[in-house]
Amino acid sequence: MKRNKTVSAVPQVLPALPYEQSALAPVISANTIGFHYGKHHKGYVDNLNKLAAGTEFEELTLEEVIAATAGKADKAAIFNNASQAWNHAFYWRSLALAARR
Ligand SMILES: [Fe+2]
Repeated sequence: MKRNKTVSAVPQVLPALPYEQSALAPVISANTIGFHYGKHHKGYVDNLNKLAAGTEFEELTLEEVIAATAGKADKAAIFNNASQAWNHAFYWRSLALAARR
């Protein structure tokens, strides 16, 4: 699936956290959530966009980038950043129910 290029010149967007950064405290502190979201997750998205700019990966979804680069040593940097971006988004979503309690 192609992304709509009129929405943004940069294909991958950091998704919003599905809850407040303090929603999982005291089990996971707001500081820890903020670090993994604002540093790690944002960094992986930003790095992926830099690496994918001007390549065949620029207009692909995150899942498509991962599938297209898996097992390709020359695409390891793109794969690693895309995979980590996906992993972080999955992790945030997986804790959404706990955050509501
Ligand atoms: Fe992280």
